[in-house]
Amino acid sequence: MKWQAAAPSNIALIKYMGKTDGGNISTNASLSYTLGNLLTFIELEPTKDSTDKWEALNKEGCERIHISESGQARFLKHLGFLKKEFNFNGNFIVRSANNFPSDCGLASSASSFAALTMAAYKAVKDLKKADLKDYSLEALADLSRQGSGSSCRSFFAPWSLWDDNGARKVDLPFEKLHHQVVVVNDKIKQVSSSEAHKRIRTSSLSTTRTDRAQERLEKLMINMKAQDWKTSYEIIWNEFWDMHALFETSQPPFGYMSRGSLHVLDSVKSIWQNQNDGPWVTMDAGPNVHLLYRPDQKYLAQNIAQDLSAHFQVITNYV
Ligand code: PMV
Repeated sequence: MKWQAAAPSNIALIKYMGKTDGGNISTNASLSYTLGNLLTFIELEPTKDSTDKWEALNKEGCERIHISESGQARFLKHLGFLKKEFNFNGNFIVRSANNFPSDCGLASSASSFAALTMAAYKAVKDLKKADLKDYSLEALADLSRQGSGSSCRSFFAPWSLWDDNGARKVDLPFEKLHHQVVVVNDKIKQVSSSEAHKRIRTSSLSTTRTDRAQERLEKLMINMKAQDWKTSYEIIWNEFWDMHALFETSQPPFGYMSRGSLHVLDSVKSIWQNQNDGPWVTMDAGPNVHLLYRPDQKYLAQNIAQDLSAHFQVITNYV
């Protein structure tokens, strides 16, 4: 018997940055767009072995992934946590695959932890039937959050809000957006996002971070509801710079912004200056630049992809 599940990645417009110790409790609310085409697939197969084990999954349309020893340990630790929650003693072989390149800085922890949580629930529910209570999507998202914070937003689409009450779907316009990621290679050794959450506590900007993020979240939702694309762009722009400013003002400072990132950001800025319109732009804890376009901006997305592909790999998912 085998159980399968898939879950999408997501890109935050209001960022989860800063957490309390243990359990991935965010110090601020975040809002994300679910990237429905960027999926992690998980397969669980029961084993008589005394431990769980991870393997790469062979799946059509997916590249074979490699996960470091510590990455595998973190993943299997989450499976252990789920089995304990579901009061289940057996072990599994966990196989996973992503249908997007894993080395391009797209958050694969969000999709992979969400998919693992879904698959484990499916498997144990099937094996234990009525002996396992029913879990709502919100409750499963909360379990997933304990493995990877941003994964709790991947349970809802297209817009997901994660605040003190957990993660849930939020109704907002712009339900279909083209998504583009400009892959900016840099050789600088990166600080992991888990590490970044801790280090930013040393920045003097972090004391007022929660208030700034909350204010921006409220403003963004108001402007999205009013279909004000340009003001929303400005808020989203300020938000990712705020997060990168937290990184660069930590003690010691660290950062992800590279010459390539700045080149892409400059190109987007000049499009907005010339056309009074353009894509939304954001960056995660990495040098890559994410662009979101309205459906009517497909032509612009194609043009930008063509211009930037002279220097960078550009991955576009059209709706
Ligand atoms: O889920 P984590 O711990 O990998 O944190 C991810 C944080 C950011 O991607 C930088 C922002 C976000 O909200 O997704």
